[in-house]
Amino acid sequence: MGVEIKIVPDNATLNRVAAQEFQRLAESAVKERGCFSVALSGGNTPRSVYSLLAEQYKTLPWDRIHIFFGDERHVPPEHPDSNFRMASESLLSRVPIPEQNVHRIHAELEAAAAAQEYEQQVREFFHLMNIDWPRFDLVFLGLGDDGHTASLFPGSAALSETSRRVAANWVEKFQCFRLTFTFPVLNHAAEVVFLVSGAAKAEILNDVLKPAPKKYPAQSVHPEDGRLLWLADQDAASLLQFTTPSVSQ
Ligand code: 6PG
Repeated sequence: MGVEIKIVPDNATLNRVAAQEFQRLAESAVKERGCFSVALSGGNTPRSVYSLLAEQYKTLPWDRIHIFFGDERHVPPEHPDSNFRMASESLLSRVPIPEQNVHRIHAELEAAAAAQEYEQQVREFFHLMNIDWPRFDLVFLGLGDDGHTASLFPGSAALSETSRRVAANWVEKFQCFRLTFTFPVLNHAAEVVFLVSGAAKAEILNDVLKPAPKKYPAQSVHPEDGRLLWLADQDAASLLQFTTPSVSQ
């Protein structure tokens, strides 16, 4: 499938379109297979999407929805930087999702052990044999101003990881480990949606969406048999020359 770019007027519309896509995919996955698997992104952008889901999508089949995390900082769950904490505060504590449906990265462990433990959680959930790759129904991703996504940072070792699903990735610029899904997991997803908002992302979004040169980790996300949607608001898309703005309903 090709790359889709959807430009919406503002952050509020981006939140609404992202939440509608979550609902669409959740309802169809539950109808078809009885469950919906989604990997949440961390950072700031998705917080308002998650809040909207909590406020206006309480009737989703939360008991059939399984939440994973695309990446996690190497901190305990109660730490202010924890992606799990952000998702809990904005969404998970506000919807009737069973505790066992939330697959947290145990980032309080030593980094390699946390990666191994999460890899096992993913393997078990997807009943993985040794070679299969999990196929998430939806992966939300963000875009860093250095072109990273999840915790796949420029120059980091995990960029070249092709056998593990989860990596404990040393991030030089932060002098710390991050836990992250690897590219094969992202690229086996049924749908990946990048959420990009704000003028500060305009330059990097324009660079990343150029077909060449390929120099940013986010440019290596292309689901082999799935949909890739770049969802950006007008501020973030302000430098894109070839947008055909499609205002979402
Ligand atoms: C994280 C995210 C990271 C994030 C980007 C964009 O753990 O921080 O997974 O990849 O999506 O850094 O972050 P913002 O949405 O805060 O700009």
